[in-house]
Amino acid sequence: MLEAILLVGGRGTRLRPLTVNTPKPMLPVAGVPFTAHQIARAKAAGVTRIVLSTSYRAEVFSDYFGDGSAHGVELVYMTEDSPLGTGGAIRHAAAQLRSAPDAPVLIFNGDVLSGLDIAGLVDAWRLAQADIALYLTRVPDPRAFGLVPTDATGRVTAFLEKPTKPEEIVTDQINAGCYVFRRSLIDAIPPGRVVSVERETFPKLLAEDANLIGVVDPAYWLDLGTPAAFVEGSRDIVSGRIPSPALPGGTPGRSLVLPGARVSQDAIVAGGSAIGANAVVEAFATVDGSVVFDGATIGVGASVVSSIVGAGAVIGSHTRLNGAVVGDGAVIGAENELLSGARVWAGATLGDCTVRFSSDQD
Ligand code: GTP
Repeated sequence: MLEAILLVGGRGTRLRPLTVNTPKPMLPVAGVPFTAHQIARAKAAGVTRIVLSTSYRAEVFSDYFGDGSAHGVELVYMTEDSPLGTGGAIRHAAAQLRSAPDAPVLIFNGDVLSGLDIAGLVDAWRLAQADIALYLTRVPDPRAFGLVPTDATGRVTAFLEKPTKPEEIVTDQINAGCYVFRRSLIDAIPPGRVVSVERETFPKLLAEDANLIGVVDPAYWLDLGTPAAFVEGSRDIVSGRIPSPALPGGTPGRSLVLPGARVSQDAIVAGGSAIGANAVVEAFATVDGSVVFDGATIGVGASVVSSIVGAGAVIGSHTRLNGAVVGDGAVIGAENELLSGARVWAGATLGDCTVRFSSDQD
């Protein structure tokens, strides 16, 4: 038996208003909730039992996944009344673990899409007889991340906050949001209070000389926390750049159109776009590199590029979206322009020809 804890309790503020109704890990990415991709990948790596660590809108997860039998794993739930942070959530979830004190337990952030060799991370943990193995990835610009330098043997030497000066950039290795913990170290996290595993647990263990190793994996890695990353992740799964066993239909392609959707033969849907169930794309519309949720309508001649259109939202004819987010149920009239960074709140209504919004100076 290999157990995992999946952290899915965050509020997903960077993806508002989409996360007003739906927790971030349950938003549809390439046709299914992102958590379904993570469960499928964990299962493929040999994980048999997963504790879903929930807080914000916990019921959305259990309504969809139930006991996990339809997904080939045993799923159990631990819900925090108020969010306990990453470390507090891991500690809280420990009540549902069955692993022995010395056994490995995988921990996944619920919003990281990656091609990590999960079984390889567990093997590295075993081989090094580590307390914790951290998955690290290299990024071209590490300034927005906490840095994790390692020595020649792979041992972690420091946990550094986001660097502010060039001399503080001592490595391009960052914490990629997946760990293997020795079970007994999970039990040692203080219970019942907010704990950040990144800012509190890891630095404390390092100061106590615990054996923490970093495993740099060059595979695909993306944090889906922002709208731009969210559409990128979805189109990379649809197009097969990052394979997922949970991709509906199983075969990557130019686009994914879920059953029940209606796409006019005079419309263009491309660039790895995903069109949700019962959505409609009218004639002469273009949907490129975008995610259209269930039941949304893209009007005649509209153009939706690198954007997210929420469930049941309506995009009026000849309206242009580029880098925009439209909340569930919003109705946008004809001939509007919503560019780079524009967000329309769930349920909002915009008339015809009323908006030309861009956060850029163009
Ligand atoms: P933002 O508000 O947009 O930053 O998103 P977030 O709330 O998801 O926070 P962040 O991306 O930093 O969280 C990383 C992962 O940990 C996500 O999968 C969250 O769902 C999860 N997470 C964060 N805080 C908590 C918590 O207090 N409890 C639980 N159970 N999970 C959490």
